[in-house]
Parts: sequence; C-alpha cells; structure tokens
Amino acid sequence: MPVFDVYQLLPITPVRAEGRYLWDNQGNRYLDLYGGHAVISIGHSHPHYVRRIEQQLKQIAFYSNSVINPLQEELAERLGRLSGYPDYQLFLCNSGAEANENALKLASFLTGRKRVIAFQKSFHGRTSGAVSVTDQPAIQAPFNTQHDVHFVPLNDIQALQEAINHEVAAVIIEGIQGVGGIRVPDDQFLQQLAALCEAHGCLLILDEVQSGYGRTGHFFAHQHAGIKPHLITMAKGMGNGFPIGGVLIHPDIKPKKGMLGTTFGGGYLACAAALAVLEVMEQEDLIAHAAQIGAWLIGELKQIPEVENIRGRGLMIGLDPQPAFAGLRQHLLHRHRILTGEAKPHTIRLLPPLSLQEEEASFFLKAFRQSLQEMGKPETSISFQNGQKY
Ligand SMILES: Cc1ncc(COP(=O)(O)O)c(C=O)c1O
Repeated sequence: MPVFDVYQLLPITPVRAEGRYLWDNQGNRYLDLYGGHAVISIGHSHPHYVRRIEQQLKQIAFYSNSVINPLQEELAERLGRLSGYPDYQLFLCNSGAEANENALKLASFLTGRKRVIAFQKSFHGRTSGAVSVTDQPAIQAPFNTQHDVHFVPLNDIQALQEAINHEVAAVIIEGIQGVGGIRVPDDQFLQQLAALCEAHGCLLILDEVQSGYGRTGHFFAHQHAGIKPHLITMAKGMGNGFPIGGVLIHPDIKPKKGMLGTTFGGGYLACAAALAVLEVMEQEDLIAHAAQIGAWLIGELKQIPEVENIRGRGLMIGLDPQPAFAGLRQHLLHRHRILTGEAKPHTIRLLPPLSLQEEEASFFLKAFRQSLQEMGKPETSISFQNGQKY
C-alpha cells in the first residue's frame, strides 16, 4: 500500500537525532535549524526527556479522560507558573489545529456568535474551523467554506476597526505568523486589537502554536506586547516531538461538563513528555538563551548584503535571499548539511531547537556566507540526485 503522497519531501532520510543534529541513513550529520517545523524545543532526544518518557511508559502509558490523572494537574501548575498565566485553565489535546478548533468553539459557545476575524497570510491548521480561518483557499475544500470568516490585513488597525462589531465571536491571530513568512504583528497593533475585542465583547485567540514555548525569548510571543488574550493555543514545542497541544483559558471562562473533549488528549505519556520539556526549559534557562542567541544571530544576518528583510524574534527568524539566491536553502542542505525551513516563495525560516549553541550558529553563518559566494559563481554550482542544479 503506498503512503498517501501529499508532502514535498527533502531528499534525506534521518534515522537518528541528538541535540541539534540529525544523522541520515548514509551516516551524514546535519545541523538542524528547522526542528521538524519548530517542534524540537529542548533538542532531539534530550536525556532527561528520554528518561522521563521511559519511566512513564513502564508505569502507565495511557488512560482516557474518565479518570483522575495527577500528571495533568502537575503539568497545568508548571505551565501556568513558567508561562506567567498561573490563574488560567488548561485544556489538553493533540495538535495545533485541534487546539485552535477548541478555542474557536469555546469563543462561539461563550458569545453565542459565529463570525471570526482572521488575518491575511494566516495559518491555523487543517481541521474544518482551523482551515477556514487560514488564508489559503487552495487547502480549503468546499465543505470548509461554510464558516463566517472575515480576513483583514495584518497590522492594519483601520481595517480591523471596520471589520469588528458585535457579531464577532473571536479574533484569531498568530503570535508571529510562521507559514505566512515570519510576519511580526506590531506591539501597538496587538494592544489596540486586545482593546477592540474587549469593547465588542468578542474573544481574542492568540495562536502560539509555532511562536510559543519560549521560542521568541518570552514564553509566548504576544507577551512582548504586554497583552493578555482570552484564549492561547499551543502545540509544536510543547512535547518536543510527542504529539500534544493545549489551550490556556481565561479564568472568567467557566467550564461546563462535556463542553470540550478528546480521547487521547492529556494522556499519561503526553503529560510526561510535556513535563520533561518544561523541566529542561527551566533547568537550562532556555527562554533567556533563545532571546540572547536569537538577537545575536539576527544582528549578524543583518550584516549580510545579499539577504533582505531579516525579521523575527529570538529563534523564530525569517529572511529573504535576493532572487539570484533562490536555491539557497537547498544549497545549505546539500553542500553544508544544514537543514532550514521555508515559507513560499523564497523565505528561509530558522526555527532551531532553543538550545542552539553559539558555535553552531557561527558554523551556520560561515556556511551561509560561503553558500552565497559559491552560488554567485555559476561554474561552482552542483547538481544533486534529483538532477536539480544549485
Ligand atoms: C501557527 C500555527 N497554528 C496551527 C498550526 C497547526 O498545527 P498542527 O499541524 O499541529 O495541527 C500550525 C502548523 O504549522 C501553525 O504554524
């Protein structure tokens, strides 16, 4: 039976990983500045993470949400403390899309309304509600277009003022747009957005699925703007690869039995993985580390003339190589064995583990400058298995 062929695959087959490195089935080592799409937060196969999951597996791996699971309470307590939201409530699920789906549902339950405002170039996931607030018509089936969604340009306060009214259940916005190309909402825009939501009785949902979990130098990216949303969604970095997502819910929002639910969400193994992540983040002070090394890396990249528009915060960085260097990502992969992310058409996204070391960042910068030189000389271009030249 073939695998349903929906992904554009890079021509490498990783079989092992440790810290910030991957090894492929030929024994080649790659520096991972992509983290499997911002998922690897504390580093691949961190020993504490492996130990905690192993221990949990031997005790009890799973039971559904029909029994008391003390690990959920421990996770909620630790997450509340580390994120700066100790008074919020935690709903656990399995992915980013599911977290957003539940947040949208909660907002609609609470307000009795169904319209949602989202932003141009947004990405919130592929389930029906999440994809309907995603600004990508190509991935919306007719079935998904039944929702009442209004898209406005990011950072356009006037467009937002015109769109928001008392029919709106929620405004959903990413802490930093990831798939859309690392687009950062202005702090002032977020502050005005929060005030507009209050004034119109609608809920502000901050999608921190990609930008959260310490990546930008605060636990959540919106904390740079000093706002407090009603609902905050998270997933990627939360389990360092173990599937888990969650919604942080404002203390004024009262739960009702049966309002939300899931079979797998908040299982024992998932909680153990998420607890291990928070423990390592605290022990290794990874949030401050991401802020410091990210600021340094952004500063260094800004000195390279062949790339434009370097943007982001902490270790969520986007840059646009000039058109002549459109194959830079592939070049870095094949020539220097460095894995990076992309956003269409030619943005390079850097989403490394938060534990990235300065010598690894320096290695990348050296390879990056060298790649630009190599690509500038046509005679040194190299071809790969797939016949493409870079
Ligand atoms: C901001 C954001 N929200 C939601 C999602 C969807 O998460 P998942 O793929 O875990 O459903 C993503 C995935 O890339 C994302 O970047």
